[in-house]
Amino acid sequence: MTRPNHGGNLRWAASLAGASPTDLLDFSASLNPLGPPSWLANWLQQHYTQLIAYPDPQYRQLREAIAKHHHCDPNWILPGNGAAELLTWAARDFADCREVLLLGPAFRDYERALTAVGVPWRRLALPLDRPATLAILQNLLEPEIRADTGLLINNPHNPTGWLWPLRELWLLLQRCRLVIADEAFLDFRPDAADWSLEPCLAESRSLVIVRSLTKFYSVAGLRLGYAIAHPDRLERWQQWRDPWSVNGLAAALGPELLADRAFQAATWNWLPAARSALANGLATIPGLRVLPSQANFLLVQAEHSVLPLQECLLQQHRILIRDCLSFAELGDRWFRVAVRSEAENQQLLRAIATVLTDGRAGSMTA
Ligand SMILES: Cc1ncc(COP(=O)(O)O)c(C=O)c1O
Repeated sequence: MTRPNHGGNLRWAASLAGASPTDLLDFSASLNPLGPPSWLANWLQQHYTQLIAYPDPQYRQLREAIAKHHHCDPNWILPGNGAAELLTWAARDFADCREVLLLGPAFRDYERALTAVGVPWRRLALPLDRPATLAILQNLLEPEIRADTGLLINNPHNPTGWLWPLRELWLLLQRCRLVIADEAFLDFRPDAADWSLEPCLAESRSLVIVRSLTKFYSVAGLRLGYAIAHPDRLERWQQWRDPWSVNGLAAALGPELLADRAFQAATWNWLPAARSALANGLATIPGLRVLPSQANFLLVQAEHSVLPLQECLLQQHRILIRDCLSFAELGDRWFRVAVRSEAENQQLLRAIATVLTDGRAGSMTA
């Protein structure tokens, strides 16, 4: 089996571990460990009949629920089969841009979507050796943006977990022909509304915000995301795609997920302490450098290849971490881990320490 480009490929990992996919503790996909919400199993049983009929091709109820969540008009919402589907239409919409700028390292699917539609793209490398500031981002973008530039920007950024107050750069960003802001991980913050580019939508027809429900609610297999943008653009995307991109169960579930305030509050309660404990624990392991993250995952640099560590963790501990080979700027000396429950995070820390002190992946540290 070839090495996957995305986290969460449990079949690939299980074949390396000589185990079953369900035996693995997955730190490679950045899914909320508190999810899915506990009521989901019953709900699915009660609502499986949603699978019998075709879903409403206009997704009225779902769009209304999402619009209510964002205090906007439902015509400004387009649900998608995960954020990934919407990134495909975003890529097609970049067709009249001379080139599309990405921040490197970049989520691999951007390149997949842009390459599929033949739109030229270029990564601007973020300096990973110093704290992420807005000034650094501004200096990177300023000389590159022209009237025919497209920009696909991710906030918080995967894989670093950096979060920028992008509204402060809006004067610069709006010089672009089209800006797609992928905010797939923003819901992990209780103050998401303060960081989103949403308020800029009122001033610009050239901005699209993409959000995902799969990570926050741990329903990656169900697939559900949405775009927020001017209705004319979303109408065009709707014409391009098949009429029932979002399945009936996902369409019915979306409003229930968005209404689950208790689950949202529990997630916001869990993350900050769990993240700092995991980051501190990793930072105390000799040879590892942890980048400060505002998201539900951590990017870690090692002094040597992490591939032996990844293999030992799988084979000896049934733990999967995300290697970063699919991020061109990173290569084999970086790994990314999701923040999970405190007990699971401790399990990961113990396993990494054991593997490294046993010397089974000893070539990794100096
Ligand atoms: C930055 C980013 N955007 C979008 C997606 C796709 O999310 P979805 O599961 O909603 O398609 C991912 C998935 O890993 C991601 O990391």
